[in-house]
Amino acid sequence: MITLAITSQKGGVGKTTLAINLAHAFARSGRRTLLVDSDPQGSVGLSLTRQSRHLSGFYDMLGNPSVSAEKIIVPTRLPTLSLVASGHSSAYELGGGSMGVTLHRVRCFLSEVEALNYDVCIIDTAAGLFGATADVLSAATGVIVPQQAEPLGVRSVPKMLEALARMRVVNPQLQVLGVVLTMVKKELPESLESADALRNLLPPEMVMQTVIPRDDLFIKASARGLPVGVMEDGAGALAIFESLRTELERRIVPPNPQRIDYAK
Ligand SMILES: Nc1ncnc2c1ncn2[C@@H]1O[C@H](COP(=O)(O)OP(=O)(O)OP(=O)(O)O)[C@@H](O)[C@H]1O
Ligand SMILES: [Mg+2]
Repeated sequence: MITLAITSQKGGVGKTTLAINLAHAFARSGRRTLLVDSDPQGSVGLSLTRQSRHLSGFYDMLGNPSVSAEKIIVPTRLPTLSLVASGHSSAYELGGGSMGVTLHRVRCFLSEVEALNYDVCIIDTAAGLFGATADVLSAATGVIVPQQAEPLGVRSVPKMLEALARMRVVNPQLQVLGVVLTMVKKELPESLESADALRNLLPPEMVMQTVIPRDDLFIKASARGLPVGVMEDGAGALAIFESLRTELERRIVPPNPQRIDYAK
């Protein structure tokens, strides 16, 4: 199973949007996909299921060894896509998690998910590299960094990638898959300039060819609790996330090839 964390240092850059729509693209391609919300704000669940506040989820599993993956996985209308909501995070937020224990719980959870025959697990995280996000990164096989195409934001990206590369000391299987430019506005010179600036700052292979355009359809989709690709007029967005999925699949080195049946 491949486990992809969607992470950024800054908030509001499009992590949750990327996580939802990428999970949808993997699921449409036939991969059994689990979308996990590890953000205490609970955006994925809020977006995709109206009742997410009542669902047990990721934080219930972290805090209680008797909460198994099977108990918190919720099916969606797409048979190959399931999700795990954020759940009840207040105890974790008040007390914090002790690093060793929560990392162990994250690893147990991912082993259970793999045993349930999922091919791909996509984990949306809260901004920053601390707390539960550090544990997710210590257990994931890959990480993707969405970055808003705006001039001030891009300068901090190399430091972020260095910090992620250092996570490989704890987790040697972590592949830093690269940066995805989000909210790109083609008619705005500053937006294109910041995309070019990022490509100049980083090794070329670190920036995905596929970029996510700024489009009000994303806001409409999240208001309706849907991946953007299933919206009327969503065909363009569907093609973009499909292109991102194939680009990522070319880069991903399967951590455990025996278990991934790509022929499916
Ligand atoms: N490509 C896009 N075009 C237009 N709006 C977008 C796009 N991507 C995301 N948005 C909007 O921008 C806002 C922030 O996006 P999102 O919630 O995905 O970011 P985030 O990084 O997950 O934020 P947080 O750090 O708070 O979790 C949302 O209102 C979302 O609908
Ligand atoms: Mg989010």
